[in-house]
Amino acid sequence: MRIILIGPPASGKGTQAKVLCDRFAVPQVSTGDMLRAAKAAGTALGLKAAAFMQAGQLVPDEVVIGLIDERLGQGDASKGFVLDGFPRTVPQAEALGRLLDGRGLKLDHVIQIDVPRALLVERAVLRRTDKRTGQIYHLKYNPPPPEADLEHRADDREETVLARLDTYENMTAALLPHYEALGLLRKVDGVGKPSEITDRLLAVLGNIG
Ligand code: AP5
Repeated sequence: MRIILIGPPASGKGTQAKVLCDRFAVPQVSTGDMLRAAKAAGTALGLKAAAFMQAGQLVPDEVVIGLIDERLGQGDASKGFVLDGFPRTVPQAEALGRLLDGRGLKLDHVIQIDVPRALLVERAVLRRTDKRTGQIYHLKYNPPPPEADLEHRADDREETVLARLDTYENMTAALLPHYEALGLLRKVDGVGKPSEITDRLLAVLGNIG
């Protein structure tokens, strides 16, 4: 199962990717998580990426394409993956196509999670993540348990979220016609309870059992 989830910031890609990865026993491949881990580790790549992330801009294509090339070469990705946050530009999508072709692999599904902009700022600003488990919570919609060790992402402040939304509309939305032309794009309404969104995704994937 090789799936791409596309959607604006805080549309629920990470939340749903974790559920799908458990269900299909494939790894979640999130460039955002990889870049944050590189920043936390203090690598040169992480520190370079952090400046772009903090400004709500995209990290340069060659950086994230290199990360994905390396990640997809790891053994666990041979049985499939859920890509969350990559690709984000048409050149990234083209590079992914070449990487998969080179490995004799094909994408199965590209799913757009559709959430109106008006809901996204609140979803991002009140998001909290457990540092130990990576579990994603929301102070209003999915409150964390008392024992969670919470962090608030540096790019989840309102002004940065607004810049990220603009970046999505200006750069990443161009992926939709790209995958539509390839006959791979499906759209799922991302408004509702997370479990309802999962049901919609599974219906598209043809596996509701
Ligand atoms: P990245 O980490 O990928 O961020 P993003 O795409 O902006 O997506 P988010 O992680 O903000 O949200 P999500 O859709 O996963 O939503 P979530 O499930 O957490 O990227 C960060 C930055 O890294 C980018 O800005 C860029 O700088 C850089 N970057 C990353 N990849 C790159 C690439 N390929 N190229 C270049 N640069 C790249 O949910 C959000 C909140 O809503 C949570 O609190 C959750 O609990 C809640 N929630 C989820 N579902 C629901 C629901 N149904 N109802 C109510 N609340 C919900």
